Amino acid sequence: GRQGPTVLMINDLWYKNAVIYCLSVATYMDANGDGVGDFAGLMRRLDYLSGLGVTAIWLMPFQASPCRDDGYDVSNYYEVDARYGTLGDFVEFTHAAKQRGIRVIIDLVANHTSDQHPWFMEARRNPKSMYRDWYVWSKKKPRGSNKGMAFPGVQKSTWSYDSVARAWYFHRFYDFQPDLNTSNPHVQAEILKIMGFWIQLGVSGFRMDAVPFVIATKGPQVRNPVEQYDMLRMMREFLQWRQGDAIILAEANVLPDTDMEYFGREGDRMHMMFNFQVNQNLFYALAASDARPLQKALKATKPRPKTAQWGMFLRNHDELDLGRLTKQQRKTVFKAFGPEPAMQLYDRGIRRRLAPMLENDRRRIELAYSLMFTLPGTAVLRYGDELGMGDNLALPERQCARTPMQWSTEPNAGFTKSKKPISPVISVGPCGYEHVNAAQQRRDPNSMLNWTERIIRMRKEVPEVGWGDFEILTTRDVSVLAIRYDWRNNSVLFVHNLASTPREVSLSVGIAGESSRLLVNLLSEDHSQAKAGGKHRFMLEAYGYRWFRVGGLDYLLKRSDIETESADRVTPRRQRSRRGPVAR
Ligand code: GLC
Repeated sequence: GRQGPTVLMINDLWYKNAVIYCLSVATYMDANGDGVGDFAGLMRRLDYLSGLGVTAIWLMPFQASPCRDDGYDVSNYYEVDARYGTLGDFVEFTHAAKQRGIRVIIDLVANHTSDQHPWFMEARRNPKSMYRDWYVWSKKKPRGSNKGMAFPGVQKSTWSYDSVARAWYFHRFYDFQPDLNTSNPHVQAEILKIMGFWIQLGVSGFRMDAVPFVIATKGPQVRNPVEQYDMLRMMREFLQWRQGDAIILAEANVLPDTDMEYFGREGDRMHMMFNFQVNQNLFYALAASDARPLQKALKATKPRPKTAQWGMFLRNHDELDLGRLTKQQRKTVFKAFGPEPAMQLYDRGIRRRLAPMLENDRRRIELAYSLMFTLPGTAVLRYGDELGMGDNLALPERQCARTPMQWSTEPNAGFTKSKKPISPVISVGPCGYEHVNAAQQRRDPNSMLNWTERIIRMRKEVPEVGWGDFEILTTRDVSVLAIRYDWRNNSVLFVHNLASTPREVSLSVGIAGESSRLLVNLLSEDHSQAKAGGKHRFMLEAYGYRWFRVGGLDYLLKRSDIETESADRVTPRRQRSRRGPVAR
């Protein structure tokens, strides 16, 4: 029965209506003045994050690491890297976050370790060691070692010779990141142990790195790796036993037809996945002012278990990967957002931050954010984007978009008192810290920061986006995207104009009855009354967006009525009879 429990679950499945903010401790705030961000510094910024309205923080790797891939090369999973503080500082931080109602999720890098990890050092030194089989070896150079690189153009192969082991080892990523043999039950047990450890220290879950590779079969004989999906179920089960509300958010850039394998048909695998399909098509939509491929991506990724959720994002700490677009589409996005070779990376992506890609045009940035917050899922923001921070293309690879947070007009943007920050603070151009910083934007009611705060506040009040079923409405204009969500007899409608020119929008809400005659604008007093015939007609300015609630009744009142009603009506009856609920 889906009846009673569903009502209660609204409060328990916190990730369905969360606002996640990702950051790297190293570049966020330095408290001790050594030039490297730390947990003590991050803790001082929790009120800033709380004020912004984020409900969860995702921390990039902060465990002990030689940091040759920004911490994605872990040398001890049970330690905080000394530069960021101690385990004690970490626990103080999770505690302080909890006091403000903010959850913490952390990166879990389980596909590989650093080559400096004691397991690998032992494995290469001693063929008799139990750790030998924790990695993936070959006596001879395997065929196809020049294929399947995660960083094409920078990384030359996926197998390297180790002169100590006198054997070849497999590495999907850089050569200093040897792959763990994740099929080995001892390795699997260790991964669970790591999860259990951090859960005990107060985290609410994990962003699991490189999931398709974690679960793939590996070895010199493997030509076409096969995903071992049962591993996902095992991890989920373990986590749920340890802590019922902990989640896994999977980084899995896969095709839509395997999404359900990752979520699990019974909703028994990953709680969340990043929606790479929508992300790439969203950038195409912005570049081409054409919503059609995005609509297709939304439909393709629509099926998901009732308890599962998409992570919606614009930019992250990696390049904007455009590998899933057609060649022509990719060309269009490159031309619009990354025309120069220095802006591109790994033959498939753009390494810039959001604001400079959109030419620091506030209208386009708001449009992009408004889309991210209203597409089906939970929004994941990247630190600094709430200020419109920029990039530094003089830095190598993905480092260009990982510069320190810009807090104020003080030297080094107030990030550190040291003269030598871990990464140079952006100090020139329109995105330099003297123009773009939190202190100034806090004081300016029209700043990007205050806009973001307001839009987050409103997003939290439309749980329909996180929970509801959605329908894409026809508008006859390829530049206009209109989506309606229905949930618990409430409906909301979002309309976006992707074009650089104003558009007249004419649409039917698609709901029978009186309520659809009035669209209440959630962000201004500019409401819409249906014309004779029931259609709505209104102007959308260039790059304009509208958030509407359908119907004139006080929706909060309406909602509390529903709260006591049978949860069987989560999806409106009208739709169920037509073709049954889609998301379950
Ligand atoms: C993921 C991370 C990326 C990292 C790689 C190797 O793709 O997002 O930053 O380099 O895994 O761990």
